[in-house]
Amino acid sequence: MSASLRGAQLARLLGQWHVDAPRRNTPDYAALAGTIRGLLIDGRLPLGVRLPAERELATALGISRTTVAAAYRRLRDSGHLASRRGAGSWTTMPGDAKVDNTGLWAPGTEPEMLDLATGALPAPAELIQAAREAVEELPRYLDHPGYHPSGLADLRAAVASRYAEQGLPTSPDQIMITNGVLHALDLACRLLVGAGQPALVESPTYPNALATLAGRRARVLTFGLGATGWDSELLLETLRQSRPRVAYLAPEYQNPTGHLMPQALRERLPAVAHSSGTELVVDESFVDLTLTGEAPPPPVACFDRHARVLSVGGMSKPYWGGLRVGWVRASPPQVQRLTAVRVGTDIAGPVLDQLVAARLLAQAAVVVPARRRLVRERRDALVGALRERLPEWRFRVPDGGLSLWVELDAPVSSALARAAEEYRLRLAPGPRFGVDGTLERFLRLPFTLPVPELVDAVDRLAAARADLERPARRSWETPALVA
Ligand SMILES: Cc1ncc(COP(=O)(O)O)c(C=O)c1O
Repeated sequence: MSASLRGAQLARLLGQWHVDAPRRNTPDYAALAGTIRGLLIDGRLPLGVRLPAERELATALGISRTTVAAAYRRLRDSGHLASRRGAGSWTTMPGDAKVDNTGLWAPGTEPEMLDLATGALPAPAELIQAAREAVEELPRYLDHPGYHPSGLADLRAAVASRYAEQGLPTSPDQIMITNGVLHALDLACRLLVGAGQPALVESPTYPNALATLAGRRARVLTFGLGATGWDSELLLETLRQSRPRVAYLAPEYQNPTGHLMPQALRERLPAVAHSSGTELVVDESFVDLTLTGEAPPPPVACFDRHARVLSVGGMSKPYWGGLRVGWVRASPPQVQRLTAVRVGTDIAGPVLDQLVAARLLAQAAVVVPARRRLVRERRDALVGALRERLPEWRFRVPDGGLSLWVELDAPVSSALARAAEEYRLRLAPGPRFGVDGTLERFLRLPFTLPVPELVDAVDRLAAARADLERPARRSWETPALVA
């Protein structure tokens, strides 16, 4: 999106902004301001973008200029718009706003806010001991400048043997350590996709992968996932016909749907990708988080005869996102190319964090099963609370991962996310996981909060959903009676 919006562009983004207003007794200017604020919070309207002049937006929406002026004034008062005479008005966030790790903007100091937008766990208890041991190991590295662009040798070896345990023989020179999975993905895209080149993604998909591809100015094509996941024939045919430069797929407990790709499709994908000139970028972020006790099928790279698969994975989901340690598994020449790209961006990752990661990986047999037990308990609590409080919502209970992909009773996901803010509940609405503002019927609900908070969050969710149906004005809009 460019740095300034035309009236017609904003009108398209605003969609049916006033459809509910008369029924809810909301004045037009407040509905307009509320919808613009919602777009900003959902990330569909970037920060710092210049909004159309009042007259231009009024014409595009077929309303009076006074209404637009009042809406802009309201946004200025709430800190969502800044204006300067002669320069126009551009989007901002209130002073204490921060970016949360779903890519959404969120106010920074909100103690009462429950976060159902973030799908990640707090650190395991073992992290402290791992960090202590890492500090003790550090002296071994201090007589060296500390730049290790492909990662510390010990950690590369540990990641390689993890793949070997999954049935995929891997040597350390096939591994490069990155600052998290998203960094690995970004490096892969820098290497593989040029501006305007086609990149295939699942729909829905992980929003920050979309942001990464947008950053490369790739032409994003989507492959829709169905109720049971990938339609194998359709996916293979799509690859043959559209011949994308890369296909970004998440076969293990796909984010957000939780689908697990069957072995039969894994076996066929690399050969078809090879014949269509496609590089498969396979995101294994959730591979450790099986919740059934059964290991997922072998990694897609097991069936790769032509070095077409580049796997990315990391510590964030099974261990802790705050470590910022991820990796790429690829052919040794590909790892060398990626390392060269990496040197041109951040040179190398932090030594200490890699030492901590290596210590944690050494304890995988203890840490990971405990994480699975914790996540399973939380998943079951969320499922139970939803079935009780919102029985008309449909979802499949996933066999792994960290979230439910819920089909709502109506296409109200963005409106629900806005209403939920009033109940101090943060949500990531369905359209965040797609490219074209669709998926309004869906909502991703992570099961990463402790059980009592999940139950509380579902109560708030049910209240927000009921609010969308309520015809009268909401209590917060009613003037307080001062006696
Ligand atoms: C599918 C997927 N890939 C990558 C990431 C980002 O991982 P990291 O925090 O290691 O960059 C996430 C985080 O939510 C994810 O869900």
